[in-house]
Amino acid sequence: METKNFYHDGIWDAIVNDREFDIGRREFETLVRFLPVVARHAAGVVNVLHLGVGNGREVTLFANHLKVGEYVINDICAPSLEKVAEQARVAYPDTSFSKACADIEQSGVITKLRQGITGQTLIVLVGNAVIFSNRGLDDNIKQAMERDDLFLVTTETPHEKMSQSYTIEPVYRLLAQSGLVVNADNTRTWYDESDQCLKMSCRGEILLSSYKPKPEQLRQRMKSVNMAEVALCEYQDIHMVVGLFRKGRLT
Ligand SMILES: C[S@@+](CC[C@H](N)C(=O)[O-])C[C@H]1O[C@@H](n2cnc3c(N)ncnc32)[C@H](O)[C@@H]1O
Repeated sequence: METKNFYHDGIWDAIVNDREFDIGRREFETLVRFLPVVARHAAGVVNVLHLGVGNGREVTLFANHLKVGEYVINDICAPSLEKVAEQARVAYPDTSFSKACADIEQSGVITKLRQGITGQTLIVLVGNAVIFSNRGLDDNIKQAMERDDLFLVTTETPHEKMSQSYTIEPVYRLLAQSGLVVNADNTRTWYDESDQCLKMSCRGEILLSSYKPKPEQLRQRMKSVNMAEVALCEYQDIHMVVGLFRKGRLT
């Protein structure tokens, strides 16, 4: 069973609001620093296709920094998506929000979502290193992109204390959706250099894999699917890297 099947309404909220979930704050800070760069590359009206939106905490940042046309929010968890859409429509009555409840790891899904939008679109996958540990996702996103589209991704870079945000009670609760009893005593976390992922296993079964590349490794990954770098920033003080890409000219 994969982590994507474990999310139920409220569980991401519990994780992101846990005091020990330090990565959540650093992901947010990364966007605060980098969104002015994105705004320079998407200076006119731009649509946003926000993948794995969670509790919607990042929506405000995009709505405030960009001149958003259509804003499509996606998540696999229908009840929380419903709430995020309601709140966003109240907060930004002039922006057109639509919901897309779908599993973006299924083949062709991102392309289908993108095809429903007209005009330059920013595809956003932020605070979503678990989804991005799926190695096929970069190519799926590239296939979905149209000529002027941009792809924004944030990830944590590997560092000594990277497992701390994951060894917390709400994460064990998320992983317990697997049917296993999951706790600090029966789990193991380690960094797997071979795929640049932090892994967490319980009784020998890997329940979580979270992509944490060095900046050059992210660069190479995107290059390998013919995504061209528009801007890439490493924030060493908060162990984060953020990249903005467009579709390579050869596709
Ligand atoms: C780690 S949270 C990140 C949420 C948000 N980006 C943030 O940082 O606050 C992951 C979210 O992605 C959703 N998700 C996980 N796998 C997914 C998939 N395959 N397709 C769509 N959504 C998915 C989960 O339901 C959850 O709301």
